Amino acid sequence: MNEKTSRRAMLNLPVLKRLFSYFHYNKKLFVGGLAMVIASTFLGVLGNGLLAPVVDAVAVSHDLHAFFFALGQMVIVFTLATISEYYGFLWLAELSQRTIYQLRREMNAHVLSLPVTYFDRTANGKIMSSFTNDVNTLAQTIQQALPQFLLSVVQFTSTIVMMFFLRWQLTLIVLAFLMVLLLIMRIISQKSGKYYRSRQKQIAEINGYIEEMLSAQQVVQLFNRQDAAKAEFNRRSDAVQDASTNAATFGVISFPIMGNLAYVLYALVALVGSFYTMNGVMTIGALTAFMQYTRTVNRPVTMVAQQLNGVLSAIAGAERIFQLMDEPAENMDGAIRLWTDPETQKQYWVRRNTADEATTVGSAIFEQKVPVHGDVRFTDVHFGYDADHPVLKGISLYAKPGQKIALVGSTGAGKTTITNLINRFYEIDDGEITIDGLPLQEIQKEDLRSLLSMVLQETHLFSGTIRENIRFGRLDATDEEVEYAAKLANADGFIRRLKDGYDTLISDTDEELSQGKRQLLAIARAAVADPVILILDEATSSVDTHTEKLIAEGMDQLMQGRTTFVIAHRLSTVRNADAIMVLEDGRIVERGDHEDLMRQKGRYYRLNKGLEELA
Ligand SMILES: Nc1ncnc2c1ncn2[C@@H]1O[C@H](COP(=O)(O)OP(=O)(O)OP(=O)(O)O)[C@@H](O)[C@H]1O
Ligand SMILES: [Mg+2]
Repeated sequence: MNEKTSRRAMLNLPVLKRLFSYFHYNKKLFVGGLAMVIASTFLGVLGNGLLAPVVDAVAVSHDLHAFFFALGQMVIVFTLATISEYYGFLWLAELSQRTIYQLRREMNAHVLSLPVTYFDRTANGKIMSSFTNDVNTLAQTIQQALPQFLLSVVQFTSTIVMMFFLRWQLTLIVLAFLMVLLLIMRIISQKSGKYYRSRQKQIAEINGYIEEMLSAQQVVQLFNRQDAAKAEFNRRSDAVQDASTNAATFGVISFPIMGNLAYVLYALVALVGSFYTMNGVMTIGALTAFMQYTRTVNRPVTMVAQQLNGVLSAIAGAERIFQLMDEPAENMDGAIRLWTDPETQKQYWVRRNTADEATTVGSAIFEQKVPVHGDVRFTDVHFGYDADHPVLKGISLYAKPGQKIALVGSTGAGKTTITNLINRFYEIDDGEITIDGLPLQEIQKEDLRSLLSMVLQETHLFSGTIRENIRFGRLDATDEEVEYAAKLANADGFIRRLKDGYDTLISDTDEELSQGKRQLLAIARAAVADPVILILDEATSSVDTHTEKLIAEGMDQLMQGRTTFVIAHRLSTVRNADAIMVLEDGRIVERGDHEDLMRQKGRYYRLNKGLEELA
């Protein structure tokens, strides 16, 4: 980032405006906090000015009464300054925390509403760093830089005004000197800014590296790569150290330079000022007050310059946060919705004939009312995750209500992709998918997904009890329903043998639970939702034969009366399917039931006879 772009970042008005709009929620804190900070600064400057009558009362008029009066005034002013400073910073800290709280909640809600495609193209680490780094820098800035900036401006202007009143000729000298100071600060901040940004970049990189190493820790150990990993870490760590040292050097250098220049100015003012005093145009008290102002006037200038880099990176962070929040949420709208007949409890697809849902659904006036059966049809479906790489090339298939359709094929053939289209994680490029004869893309997504259950290829468990993990499939399931689902999935047996049964605490990184047991839990989770359409993406990882048998039986029980898609890596799982689709490179190359396919003596036959392997 060169100087031009950094200035543009500072003037990124839309981002600033949007940030300020968050203070709207806490107007009282914002206005009150700023008012208090301004008041305290102003009172502080005024207090210094009261030094003049105090000193003059002793040195010039020798009036003890006037001395105590002026001193009393000074004490009151400084007390008020302290109190308002306390409340100013307290309120702004509270404002900062509330703003961040609001921002985090909105970010989280938004991330949860984003479509799967967003996570395909965005590294998790990047999203994480917005939640942590960017939010923290912003909080720091609102809490510290904002009041300090304001304080500096008020302090500077009011000090200069007071100085003008005391002796404007002397003030001109001070201003000229400050110009020089500002010029030096600018040079320093430009240099340090470069190192500061390089440090941020190096830190982000080393964080990414640590994350990668931790997640690959087993592989590192297995291949004895600890030394290489150590060396790589050290290399990156050196880079961070270099950048940080450089940044710090330039940051620290400003203190002695500013400090020494301030003494020169002080001496200069004392010299010229004492001539004025000797000539009688300035009292000793006025000179004392002026000297006091000279001592403090460079502080706000230094302070603003030092805060600048922090403020710039906070604005850059805010920009990233807002970018995340501007990502279009997944469009959940759909003209076709589910409707449960209150009398028969049967479910129907209904197409609203007006935009007013309340009246139409409530009074059941629909254009179309189709009973939910779970009939799924693909007609010449084409799809690719990106435009250049078609993955499905004209898939046609159907699953009648209650049928079991199996998909087999090499890795990367497009099996998981087919199921990702049924739940509308992605939209098809060409062709048509219908459910119960209705076009899939017109069905409201939430309703669609409420009828579907999926056992994903990779099981994800959450930190919590076994019971909570199963209940994730349907949050209002009773304990009995959870246990019934577990029995159906053949998971009940092993769960009861665990230390605390259904209340055993588990987590996603838990090594205790084998892959097979995790799958059983995932199947139980799908079962508790009691879906009309079931999708089972069999895990590729191998499972011991006993568990494999348990899984197969669990799946079979679960499939009863539901339209099921099974993606099988073990051919034993698919033998009893109503139809088996052999998929290769995005096309269905063979279809039929087990007997048909064996008779055809094609790929399925060869796979079964062990003449070929699924690659
Ligand atoms: N989210 C994604 N973004 C881009 N490409 C993807 C994505 N998911 C899968 N692909 C690609 O689409 C193709 C089909 O993948 P898919 O996961 O459907 O295969 P699969 O048949 O399920 O394989 P496996 O047996 O290994 O599970 C592959 O070439 C894969 O690289
Ligand atoms: Mg797959």
